[in-house]
Amino acid sequence: MKQMIIEGNNILSGTIEIGGAKNSAVALIPASILANGTSVIENVPNISDRDALLDILNILNCESNLKQDKLTIDTTKLKNSVIEESLSSRMRASYYFMGALLGREKFVEIYIPGGCNIGTRPIDIHLDGFRALGANITIEGNKYTLKADKLIGTDIYLKFPSVGATINIILAAVLAEGKTIIHNAAKEIEIVNVVDYLITMGANIEGAGTNEITITGVNELHGGKISVLPDRIEAGTYIILGALCGKDLKISNIIPEHLEALTSKLKEMGVNLIINKDNIIVNKVNELKPINIKTLIYPGFPTDIGQPMSVLLTKGNGTSLFEETIWENRMGHVPSLNKMGANIKVNGMNAIINGPTKLKGCEVIATDLRGGAALVIAGLAAEGTTIITDVEHILRGYENIKGKLTNVGAKIELKEI
Ligand code: EPZ
Repeated sequence: MKQMIIEGNNILSGTIEIGGAKNSAVALIPASILANGTSVIENVPNISDRDALLDILNILNCESNLKQDKLTIDTTKLKNSVIEESLSSRMRASYYFMGALLGREKFVEIYIPGGCNIGTRPIDIHLDGFRALGANITIEGNKYTLKADKLIGTDIYLKFPSVGATINIILAAVLAEGKTIIHNAAKEIEIVNVVDYLITMGANIEGAGTNEITITGVNELHGGKISVLPDRIEAGTYIILGALCGKDLKISNIIPEHLEALTSKLKEMGVNLIINKDNIIVNKVNELKPINIKTLIYPGFPTDIGQPMSVLLTKGNGTSLFEETIWENRMGHVPSLNKMGANIKVNGMNAIINGPTKLKGCEVIATDLRGGAALVIAGLAAEGTTIITDVEHILRGYENIKGKLTNVGAKIELKEI
């Protein structure tokens, strides 16, 4: 188990380079299965979810070769095998192999996906989409077997604009016969990244980024090429850190338009932001106004930035409300924040945050990826030493977090215990 030790209350200056988006990369890698040939994915983030997915590609007899952030995947010798629970449970995104293998092989045996314990995380919308295309699904305990004589395009109405289900149904539909229209589709920008990749392989898809996506099936897909878009959630996490501890802290290699829901709320608080073409410079200010945030589907305030944002809200001069609408349990980090001196009352899926409060370093436990990231920025803003246990959660989605933060003046140690 890994522990992070943080000496807090340092001013952070310099540049943090943002990497490729975890929530894009974890879909792009499985999507490569659909191409019968060699594909290239650039700007792949160096995170543990990436490694877990490469292990699954290996089980499927696909050759992958990683040179820095450039990943080459050759699927010509694909051998469809059971994706065991020891592999599928290491992250949520293993479920993209359902759509990809169903799409290409019309058969997949896989165990339930893992992922942060931020809610029950059902996959019924995915499965309903696969059934609508003609798949027959059997569930025995934690094992899912999906098979289809053929997949036939159809109209599919999502009961909720699920990001994962939207991507997974696209993966299953690109080689189906005829046209599939996904209604009430999710509009997250990571979906556009995946669709752009599939189009380089020869897929016929329109409407990505809107709530209606049309996929016209083709017979075969050849190797494709894509670059992972910058990670808006990693960027948002470090912009919030800059508002707490930054002096001309530059967050670079980003697409500011993807962060407008966050930057508009930060401006409302009185945060000092300079927004440039591909970077944002942020400075700590002493007076911050309390505000209300409500997490929503894209392009609303991202649920994945809610927990890091709750740390900044502890500095607001009054009462702020953090309303979570996507996941049932986004407050796993609150007991640790309160132990550090915050004054947060959780009420169902929401939190009432009274500020400003001083944060004091102490021993805390990371409960999930974004909650863990919230504890890192709280530790950097706190007086004294913070020791975070179970940091594996954080390393799933923040590449080289120790190196990136040390480079701008943070005092952070990572150790095995
Ligand atoms: C993706 O999860 C992201 N993960 C999540 O980021 C992110 O929070 C989420 O989208 C929302 O933006 C990845 O991309 C790997 P959903 P996903 O399907 O696809 C319900 C992070 O920290 N639902 O859009 O799993 C579900 O319970 C992670 O990087 C069903 O009911 O999210 C939730 O309430 C955390 N049935 C809501 O929809 C389903 O079949 C949104 O889920 C699927 C989802």
